[in-house]
Amino acid sequence: MPQFQVSTPQRTYPVEVGRGGIHRLPDFLPSNCGKIFVVTTADVWALHGSSLKDALGDRNYATLFFAGSEENKRLAHVEALAEQMVESGADRSSVVVAFGGGIVTDLGGFLAAIFMRGIPVIQIPTTLLAQVDAAVGGKTGANLVAGKNLIGSFHQPLAVLIDPGVLSTLPEREFRAGLYEIIKTGVIASEPLFHLLANGRDDILSHHHHIVDHVIAESVRIKAEVVSSDERESGLRRILNFGHTFGHALEAETRYKRFLHGESVAWGMRAATYLAHDLSMLPQEDYLSILNILDRYGPIPSVSGIDAAALEARLVRDKKTIQARIHFVLPVKIGEVVVRNDIAPERATHAIERALADCR
Ligand code: GLY
Repeated sequence: MPQFQVSTPQRTYPVEVGRGGIHRLPDFLPSNCGKIFVVTTADVWALHGSSLKDALGDRNYATLFFAGSEENKRLAHVEALAEQMVESGADRSSVVVAFGGGIVTDLGGFLAAIFMRGIPVIQIPTTLLAQVDAAVGGKTGANLVAGKNLIGSFHQPLAVLIDPGVLSTLPEREFRAGLYEIIKTGVIASEPLFHLLANGRDDILSHHHHIVDHVIAESVRIKAEVVSSDERESGLRRILNFGHTFGHALEAETRYKRFLHGESVAWGMRAATYLAHDLSMLPQEDYLSILNILDRYGPIPSVSGIDAAALEARLVRDKKTIQARIHFVLPVKIGEVVVRNDIAPERATHAIERALADCR
């Protein structure tokens, strides 16, 4: 079973990728572990709860249900879960197990980060997007009305257990949305991963275990390396935002209802690729290859009715915009990106217009 280490000033921990990995949960619980609180959603519990119950056996645990969805990823729900924990006898020796998609891993991680000033969390992500991105790297948080993840903290888990077997029940659209994050990883850091995704597209979309598990493991390996070198996103970790700057604007403009996160990242990668090409930063062959792979893993839902000027305004308000400077992650070749904060607004608008025109 591939295992990767994330090494940060806060904690060093393993990320395991392997079918049946949920059953390894007891191996990662602390020896002095108190009551365990599994934070999950009703649908994940109905599909995969029996595996977790088997893994936990006769340990002292409670299941806390969260309603899911970006709308519910709010501080009020974190507080309600914390109250339930206290009522069920939680103390400082308690451990949270965040068992679900990216919203659950973010919110469950945040609950653990602030409960009694911080208790451990183990992440068991059940969507592809959470497996290759959200659950790895310690970002936790909740949404404000003003925007996504505007409150939160870095709270590195004790371990991340990635079981690709759970993806068999994932809706096809969510599976593809997660694949876009793996494509992102290929573009930013690994030409071999990118080509594997390009050449293995049919096998991947047919859920062939060998290749799916391999691209997940590669993506996790790369993310573990990036986070290990820059936990707090002051430098290298910014490259993980390729496609996110534009994508967050699209998600916010559509109130998080029209696009899955991975789909908006796919659209954002398209816009960033146009921008890089327009700035003559990206060789023609790589430019075409990136657009081509985005097409072949698509389509994403239509962007009709979305206004370029509105997206441009949202870019300026994004939380990653620092002192009014927007940070764009732009590819210079497949496997390498740079971060630029000196892009003229009209260039970004042009890239947005082209990417919108492609996806109507
Ligand atoms: N999702 C991007 C990061 O973890 O930094």
